[in-house]
Amino acid sequence: MTHPFYITTPIYYVNDVPHIGHAYTTLACDTLARYKRLAGDDVYFLTGTDEHGQKVEKAAEHKGLNPQQFVDQVSQSFRDLIPIINAAPDDFIRTTESRHKKAVQHLWDELIKRDAIYLGEYAGWYAVRDEAFYGEGELVNGKAPTGADVEWVTEPSYFFRLSAFQDRLLELYHQNPNFIAPQSRRNEVMRFVEGGLNDLSISRTSFNWGVTVPNDPKHVVYVWLDALTNYITALGYPDQGGNFEKYWSTTVHVVGKDILRFHAVYWPAFLMAADLPLPKQIFAHGWWTNEGEKISKSLGNTIDPVELVQTFGADAVRYFLLREISFGQDGDFSRQQLINRYNSDLANAYGNLVQRVLSFIHKNCGGVIPLPHNLQEPDQALIQECDKIMSKLEIDMETLAFHKYADHVWQLIAHANRYVDEQKPWALKAIDVPRMHTILYVLADTIRQIALLTQPLLPEASAAILDQLAIPLDQRKFLGDSLKPGTALPEPKGVFPRHVV
Ligand code: MSP
Repeated sequence: MTHPFYITTPIYYVNDVPHIGHAYTTLACDTLARYKRLAGDDVYFLTGTDEHGQKVEKAAEHKGLNPQQFVDQVSQSFRDLIPIINAAPDDFIRTTESRHKKAVQHLWDELIKRDAIYLGEYAGWYAVRDEAFYGEGELVNGKAPTGADVEWVTEPSYFFRLSAFQDRLLELYHQNPNFIAPQSRRNEVMRFVEGGLNDLSISRTSFNWGVTVPNDPKHVVYVWLDALTNYITALGYPDQGGNFEKYWSTTVHVVGKDILRFHAVYWPAFLMAADLPLPKQIFAHGWWTNEGEKISKSLGNTIDPVELVQTFGADAVRYFLLREISFGQDGDFSRQQLINRYNSDLANAYGNLVQRVLSFIHKNCGGVIPLPHNLQEPDQALIQECDKIMSKLEIDMETLAFHKYADHVWQLIAHANRYVDEQKPWALKAIDVPRMHTILYVLADTIRQIALLTQPLLPEASAAILDQLAIPLDQRKFLGDSLKPGTALPEPKGVFPRHVV
C-alpha cells in the first residue's frame, strides 16, 4: 500500500554559505526520503532557506548589499549544494516568497482570531546569532547559554500566550511517546516544559527585514514564527485540502539538537492555538565537531561539503556522515576516518565483492547471468539472510537509525564475501560447471539485492552496480524480480576506486 510521507529539513539561515552541518541534515532526510520512495511510499521531501530576521539583515549590511540581493545570492548556494551531495528534494522553499508571506500572515490572523496573541512591551535579552530571547536567569557569564552575545531589547511587541499551553504540550508528549526523538531529547524538552512557560515575544519593531504583521506595519513577525510556518506553506496552507490534507499528519521534522525547543515546544503550541493538526515526529540529531574541535567560523574550521564531494565523491561523504555515528549522537569529523571507512567498507568489502563476482561471470560465463542448479545449504543460508534483512531495515529507517541500516547491509556484504571465499567458484571451473553457475547466480542475485538496498545511502554507486547487472529502471524498487539467467551483462567496471592516503 502506498503511504504518504512528508519529511523536512530545517530551513537554513542565509547569513553564510552552507557547511557540513547543513549538508548533514539534508543528507539524512534525503536518505530516508529515498528509502521510503523505494519502499513504494508517496514521499514529499522539503528543504529551503530561512531568509528573514536580524541576523540575515546584519550579514547583508556587512556585505554592503541590500537584503534581497544578499539572500538571493546565498539562497542560491544552498540550492546549488543539493545536486552536489546528490539530494533530491521535491520542493525548495524560501521564506521571501509570496506564497510564504501569505501563509504567515494568514496564520497570524488565525492566532489573533482565537485570542492567542496580545500586544505588550518586551524588555529582555536577545541573541541575534540564535534569533532567540533569553531570560535573565538563563544567561551564563553575561552570554546566552549557547555562548552567543546578547543585547538588551526594549520595544513594543506582540506576545503569543505560550504559558497557556503547558498542560496541552505535556499531554501531547505523554500520549505520543515518539513525538520527540530520541528519548533523551524528549526528556530534556519535557523537563523544560514542566518548569513552566513564559509568553513568547513574536514580533519586532527595531528593524524591518521580515514579514509585516497584518494591520500593524511597524512590526515584523518574529523570525521563528515566520520560519516554522514554512513547513505548512509548502503544503499549500492556508488551503487545508490537497497536499496539506494528504501529507501533514505524516510529517517528520528532522532538526539539529540546538533548535529542538523551537520545533517541539513553540511549533506545536502555535499549531494547537490555530486549531491545526500536529506533525507526527520531531527528530533531533547531534552535532559534528571537526577533528575534536567545535566547528565555528571564528575558529576558521568549518568544513566545506563541496570540497569534500570534489575530493571523495558524494557517495563517500553520504556514507561516512551517516555510518560513522549513530543518528542523534554527536560525532567527530576526521578526514582520515572518512578515508578509512571508504577503503574498508566501500572499496574493500562492497567494491571487491561486486568486482570479483562480476568479472568472474564476465570471463567464465560468456558475460551472461548463469543458470542456477540445485541449491545447497550455504546457498540457502545466504538467500535466507537476504530475505530476512528487510524487516530489520524497516525498523532501522522508522527509527532514523541510519548507522544500523548500513551495519545490517554490510553484515550481508560480509556474509556474501565469506561465501565467495568458502565456495571458491574459481576452483570449480574445471570440475563442476553447474555448481559454479549456481554459486555465481546466488552471488549475482545477492549483489542485486544489496545494490537495491544501498540506493538510499549510495545513489551513484548503487545505480552503477545495477547497470552492470542490467537491471531495468522499473525493477529498482525494493525486492524487485530475481535475475533472469541468460541476461547479457555489460562489461564490469570498478565502482569504488581506492583512496590511498
Ligand atoms: N534557520 C534555522 C532553522 C529554522 S527551521 C524552521 C536554523 N538554521 S541554521 O542554518 O543555523 O541551522 C540549520 C541546521 O544545521 C540545524 O539543524 C543545525 O543543527 C544544523 N547544524 C549546524 N551546525 C551543525 C554541526 N556542526 N553539526 C551538525 N549539524 C549542525 O537553525
